[in-house]
Amino acid sequence: MRVNHVGEVCAQALYTSQALGARLWTQSPALAAHLEHASQEETDHLAWTAERIQQLNTHTSLLNPLWYAGAFGLGLVAAAWGRGVSLGFVVETEHQVEAHLNEHLSELPVQDHASRAIVSQMKADEVAHARQAQHMGAKSLPPPVQWAMRKAAKVMTTVAYRV
Ligand SMILES: [Fe+2]
Ligand SMILES: [Fe+2]
Repeated sequence: MRVNHVGEVCAQALYTSQALGARLWTQSPALAAHLEHASQEETDHLAWTAERIQQLNTHTSLLNPLWYAGAFGLGLVAAAWGRGVSLGFVVETEHQVEAHLNEHLSELPVQDHASRAIVSQMKADEVAHARQAQHMGAKSLPPPVQWAMRKAAKVMTTVAYRV
């Protein structure tokens, strides 16, 4: 659940910086508004995971400021490439999050209804975020970029699992 929470911290940072970039560089208030709307759902996810972490008597990642800063920078880079790439980055990120949540669901104990409910709802929302970004004209990212994103996510999930 700590890993999921870190993912949502990153989602906050990504959507915020990508919306900022959309306003600054692509002059696209519609795109920015869309990103900000998705970001609100990510705020719900952040709250649900934080609450569940508390119930499980553990702590959120100590490196959260670092995750936030890193993701914020990445979001700005994606936004700087323009609308299609920025949306493509959303699609790829949300697909990777969906895959991670699927994996988590398969590992969660069947009797942990509270965690399962949270992860299932988040998964449904992330799938919707990817689909909306696709409809808005996402470009698909080159395979090496997708690969690098998977590697970065792997580092993040491995570290966040421990710290
Ligand atoms: Fe989320
Ligand atoms: Fe999402």
